[in-house]
Amino acid sequence: MVPTKPESLLLLTLSFVILLRFTASIVPQEEVEAVENILADMNATNWRFDGDDCSLDMVSEVPRLSQEANASIGCDCNIGNNTDCHVVRIIHKFYNLDGVLSPELVKLPYLRSIDFAYNYLSGTIPPEWGSTQLQEM
Ligand SMILES: *[C@@H]1O[C@H](CO)[C@@H](O)[C@H](O)[C@H]1NC(C)=O
Ligand SMILES: *[C@@H]1O[C@H](CO)[C@@H](O)[C@H](O)[C@H]1NC(C)=O
Ligand SMILES: *[C@@H]1O[C@H](CO)[C@@H](O)[C@H](O)[C@H]1NC(C)=O
Repeated sequence: MVPTKPESLLLLTLSFVILLRFTASIVPQEEVEAVENILADMNATNWRFDGDDCSLDMVSEVPRLSQEANASIGCDCNIGNNTDCHVVRIIHKFYNLDGVLSPELVKLPYLRSIDFAYNYLSGTIPPEWGSTQLQEM
C-alpha cells in the first residue's frame, strides 16, 4: 500500500476545486459580479446568480405574491466568439423589492431587456444607463 500524506491529498483536492471553478463558469466574472451588485442594490437578498449555468437561484424561501412573479436571468452563448455566455435579460417582478435601481447595469454590455415591474424600487434611472444597449424595459 502506498502511504498517502494528508497534505498531498489536501493539495490534490484543492487543485481540483480550483480547476472546477475556472472551467465551470460560462459567464465572464465581471458580469457575474455586476449581477451580484445589481441584486444587492435592489435588495434582492434571497437570490443568488450562478454564473456556472446562468441561473438565478432562490437561496431562501420567498413568498410568491402573484402568478406572474418571475425572477430569472437569461444568457446568450452565441455572441462574439462563442467562448462565453453573456447576460442579456434580467427579470425580477412581483417580489416587492425595496432597493434601488443599480448603476451597475451598465457593466452588462450585452443586456437587452429588463423587467423590474411591481417592485418598490426607488431612485431615478441612473445616468449611466444612457450608454447601455437596452432595447426593452
Ligand atoms: C420567467 O420568464 C422567463 C422568460 O420569459 C421564462 O422562460 C420562465 O419560464 C418564467 N418563469 C416562470 C416561473 O414563470
Ligand atoms: C474571445 O473571447 C474572449 C473572452 O471574452 C476574449 O478574451 C478574446 O479576446 C476573444 N477573442 C476574439 C478573437 O474575439
Ligand atoms: C433591504 O431589506 C431589509 C430587510 O427587509 C431592510 O431592513 C432594508 O431597509 C432594505 N434596504 C433598502 C436599501 O431598502
